[in-house]
Amino acid sequence: MDKEIKEDRRDKNPDEEKPHISPKSSETEDYSEMERLGRYLAQKLRLIDFSGNDQRDESQRILRELSLDGIVEYIKENTNCKIITMAGAGISTSAGIPDFRSPSSGLYHKLEKYNLPHPQAIFELDFFMKNPEPFFTLARDLMPEGFKPTTCHYFIRLLWEKGLLLRHYTQNIDTLERIAGLPSDKLVEAHGTFHTGRCLKCRAPYTLSWMKEKIMGGIIPKCEECNEGIVKPDIIFFGEMLPERFQVLADRDFVQADLLIIMGSSLVVQPFASLIDRVRTTCPRLLINNEKVGMQDRLSRFLGLRQGLVFDSRNTHGGRDVAWLGDCDAGCQLLADKLGWRDDLQALIQREHESLNSGNRSDN
Ligand code: APR
Repeated sequence: MDKEIKEDRRDKNPDEEKPHISPKSSETEDYSEMERLGRYLAQKLRLIDFSGNDQRDESQRILRELSLDGIVEYIKENTNCKIITMAGAGISTSAGIPDFRSPSSGLYHKLEKYNLPHPQAIFELDFFMKNPEPFFTLARDLMPEGFKPTTCHYFIRLLWEKGLLLRHYTQNIDTLERIAGLPSDKLVEAHGTFHTGRCLKCRAPYTLSWMKEKIMGGIIPKCEECNEGIVKPDIIFFGEMLPERFQVLADRDFVQADLLIIMGSSLVVQPFASLIDRVRTTCPRLLINNEKVGMQDRLSRFLGLRQGLVFDSRNTHGGRDVAWLGDCDAGCQLLADKLGWRDDLQALIQREHESLNSGNRSDN
């Protein structure tokens, strides 16, 4: 089937015979325009308050209550519940890996020494091709080296062990989901991974251990096949194509989900952030995060668009979005406790951490 070739600015992988896949883009490119239009329309037309009593009777309500207990009851009542989890850097912070945007502790607030045009430049291909040094210096802090998966990671694995995990979508490149033992068929690494790398010139593949030896030694990894190209870890830079696996599985999975759990993400980077809108309107969505994120903006609300999370405590409009605000690990532990999985989760963490401490795991 001839694929419509859309002219665009993305870098084309030479072997890229993939369907059109939206590039990874930063937060400001997509929604600030709509926000401004929304404010203008709202002022001109005096935003009509759409709040009102929900006419749904009890039987039609998706969740009995918009709380963690409501989610727990929903999972217990839906024994074959297909759950999708979505994660960001917040699930790895307790492992010692900083997130990106948290004030002061976030990575983007510690990049002054690289003298970047703007923080995200460190993950932009154009900048990298001109000056790879800052990225590889930062990579020494980011490379998976002795970090252990967190309670969050093991909760996601427990969902799989309980037969409830449809798929785990992560923005993280730290490979902690793999180290936590999540099987690769259950994992979508939307922004790529440090686990593998390839020469930007001849595409020769390289392993994490090969790259780690060079990067930790302060050497910019150069291809040993063509002796020309730089070897870049397979993490997706801004402007690069997302992995085909992301698009193919996202098209298939989200419409099937019975529950979406979003953890430790600011939900600002597209197209990952908009995955939350791809579940059915009857699919509850639980956010476990330090702060509310991904919420419906005024324009979408005014236009009645189903875009973004709506934390409506009165359960009007068929409420189905729940925010549990706090530490991701604590949130997952509490959810496990309420589901009666406290002992299972604790035993899993203890067994896995002992195994990691004994070092009898391959650096796969
Ligand atoms: N518990 C709960 N929430 C946390 C915790 C924690 N321990 N630590 C951080 N958070 C929250 C932060 O408050 C923030 O809302 O997690 C979110 C992390 O957001 P970001 O730092 O923006 O990370 P992420 O959403 O993964 O970034 C997305 O941006 O630069 C790109 O490619 C990069 O994949 C990354 C993407």
